[in-house]
Amino acid sequence: MKILAIESSCDETAVAIVENGRKVITNQIYTQITIHKKFGGVVPEIASRNHVEKLPFVLDNALKDASMTLNDIDAFAVTQGPGLIGALLVGVSAAKAISYASGKPLIPVHHIEGHIAANYLDHPGLEPPFLCLVVSGGHTNLIHVKDYTQFDILGSTYDDAAGEAYDKVARVLGFPYPGGPQIDAAAKTGDPDAFDFPRALSDKDNDDFSFSGLKSAVLNTINAKKMKGEIYRKEDIAASFQNAVIDVLVDKTMNCAKRLGVNKIAMAGGVSANKGLRLAMGEAADGLGAKLYYPSPVLCTDNAAMIGSMAYYNYQIGKIAKLDLAADPSLAIGES
Ligand code: KG4
Ligand code: ZN
Repeated sequence: MKILAIESSCDETAVAIVENGRKVITNQIYTQITIHKKFGGVVPEIASRNHVEKLPFVLDNALKDASMTLNDIDAFAVTQGPGLIGALLVGVSAAKAISYASGKPLIPVHHIEGHIAANYLDHPGLEPPFLCLVVSGGHTNLIHVKDYTQFDILGSTYDDAAGEAYDKVARVLGFPYPGGPQIDAAAKTGDPDAFDFPRALSDKDNDDFSFSGLKSAVLNTINAKKMKGEIYRKEDIAASFQNAVIDVLVDKTMNCAKRLGVNKIAMAGGVSANKGLRLAMGEAADGLGAKLYYPSPVLCTDNAAMIGSMAYYNYQIGKIAKLDLAADPSLAIGES
């Protein structure tokens, strides 16, 4: 079954064709990063307008790259939410139009469920159940993936998402948007023990996260240094901040995996592209005798291939949209 999927929840206009939930035929991504960079973050109205302008071309490129026409596609899929409402509406409207015109089914997909499914594209042997750490710009969750379409949310963030904390700290350090990859790179040459930043909610039985205290501690440290005229290395701040984030993510994930007794751990979302996190999580999983999975970097950040994968499993349980499908900016996991 060949599914053509559209993703437009934030600042990537993406179209992919995926076969049977596992094989990427084409994965086209137009990123608006250069446009939003000058504003230091995503401007929702600009994002929507760019989706309207670019989506027809990205769709065309996907079909050309796959040497296919719409006749070769069996079903269409789209990110229903969560995300920016104006941005989501562009993808949902386009998907509804193509589905109506072709008379083929339309499958709604939850963006975060898509991030989790990105793992199926790179790991043909991976099947649920497994524990997944979702770390993106908008979400930080520990999720027990019981089956392809059954999710138990065990932990969430009380405040900032991990990626959001990365982006805010990066902005104060003077790095361009998106800050995650910049901090990741700077951390390589910094001292991770230069500053002792807080690790929140380190209680073993708590699967929740909090990053706003860490973010404030970093900002206060930088301000105090500036006021005293003390020199500091950006790399040391980046490495110490990253060290604190990784410590919390790894500890929480391992405690949760031990308690559940799972031997498969996956990561998903933009922050799972982080090199330091991948290394530390790999070592910790080895120590637990568990296998660690994460997607290749291009499938960690926003893309439509992950939506095409998740759509296949939604289709299997009859999750098919009608033409009154509405974009939902705060769609809950398990509700698409
Ligand atoms: O999953 P994603 O592309 O979009 C959302 O659904 O939010 O995640 C974007 C987030 C941004 O906050 C970005 O800074 C972060 O992922 N990110 C990283 C890295 N690459 C992207 N954070 C840390 N290290 C990275 N290498
Ligand atoms: Zn995302």
